[in-house]
Amino acid sequence: MKQYKVGVIGGTGMVGQRFVTLMEHHPWFQLTAIAASPRSAGKTYEEAVAGRWAMKTPIPEEAKSLVVLDAEADVEKIADMVDFVFCAVDMKKEEIRALEERYAKAECPVVSNNSAHRWTDDVPMVVPELNPEHLEVISAQRQRLGTKRGFIAVKSNCSIQSYAPALHPLLKFGIEKALVCTYQAISGAGKTFERWPEMVDNLIPYIGGEEEKSEQEPLKVWGKVENGKIVKAEGPAITAQCLRVPVSDGHTAAVFVSFVNKPSEAEIKEIWASFRGRAQELDLPSAPKQFLHYFEEPDRPQAKLDRDLEGGMAISLGRLRPDTQYDYKFVGLSHNTLRGAAGGAVLLAELLCAEGYIESK
Ligand SMILES: NC(=O)c1ccc[n+]([C@@H]2O[C@H](COP(=O)([O-])OP(=O)(O)OC[C@H]3O[C@@H](n4cnc5c(N)ncnc54)[C@H](OP(=O)(O)O)[C@@H]3O)[C@@H](O)[C@H]2O)c1
Repeated sequence: MKQYKVGVIGGTGMVGQRFVTLMEHHPWFQLTAIAASPRSAGKTYEEAVAGRWAMKTPIPEEAKSLVVLDAEADVEKIADMVDFVFCAVDMKKEEIRALEERYAKAECPVVSNNSAHRWTDDVPMVVPELNPEHLEVISAQRQRLGTKRGFIAVKSNCSIQSYAPALHPLLKFGIEKALVCTYQAISGAGKTFERWPEMVDNLIPYIGGEEEKSEQEPLKVWGKVENGKIVKAEGPAITAQCLRVPVSDGHTAAVFVSFVNKPSEAEIKEIWASFRGRAQELDLPSAPKQFLHYFEEPDRPQAKLDRDLEGGMAISLGRLRPDTQYDYKFVGLSHNTLRGAAGGAVLLAELLCAEGYIESK
């Protein structure tokens, strides 16, 4: 397989550190540039993350001595150095939109972890197992941007990864309605317990903007490409409540669902067990072998035990049973900074390379 030179924009942050870590042993991707704010620019990566390295493994050797570039001032330089960039920055939405377009217009594809472009109608928001066909909209986006190589592709919000993958193969039964309550880890807010001691022995029933994303983003994923735009699906209607819980990593969802044509419990489990997406067909390096794992034990999935399943890229499911008001209820779990953030973006980049949307220069 070809090798690709990769830049990480926002490489000093929580998600950026995860990207840097995931590049360490990646068979196709070689970490070539790291950029962040002017506060970090000019320092070595080791200096820039001193005192805030939040990963369980040490800083990769290949990253330590890279001099951090300025994400805004060095766009052209970075675009020349790499084949594409990952982007995960904490800036205002309109600033992120403009920054990502600058990279794309400099002919540098952007695989983004940010939400800024999720609702731009010619920007694909892709979970490789669910909607790989949305990548075809990239040609229309390139036409709008006036680019040959450059484009922006985004991954969806971390919360939806704990329930949308389980609902996806059941869409054929006609999902009438779904209700989800998410129990979201503190790393989703870029925090650890050391940096957010108020979360120990606590629960906060509010995550700004999260409920709207949890209800709406699955509809874009389930939408269709029409005339160079992604038109979102009209249903199924999802209602969501999102809570912050004292868990370091791993978002859990309690899901209730009703169908137009109700399948049996056995049918649902069989569909989950046999479900394979494009990522599995192409055998992408970060793809879990078994995307949806069902646990029969009544006390699973558990965040601490199951979030790292298949490198944190699999979705864990359990407790499927009939409900008194909906047809069924079940529980889902996904690793929010792996499948839900950097890992999901790496898998998307692998799909873009395998399908020829990103070429090495
Ligand atoms: N944490 C998660 O699980 C998660 C999940 C999904 C999506 N996201 C999204 O991913 C993005 C990053 O989140 P995070 O948790 O990694 O944030 P973070 O830890 O606060 O890191 C922010 C990064 O952005 C850089 N940055 C800040 N201001 C900048 C500027 N003016 N110009 C260039 N770079 C700048 C920072 O550089 P310095 O170090 O130099 O300040 C740092 O590298 C956000 O959009 C967030 O909503 C996060």
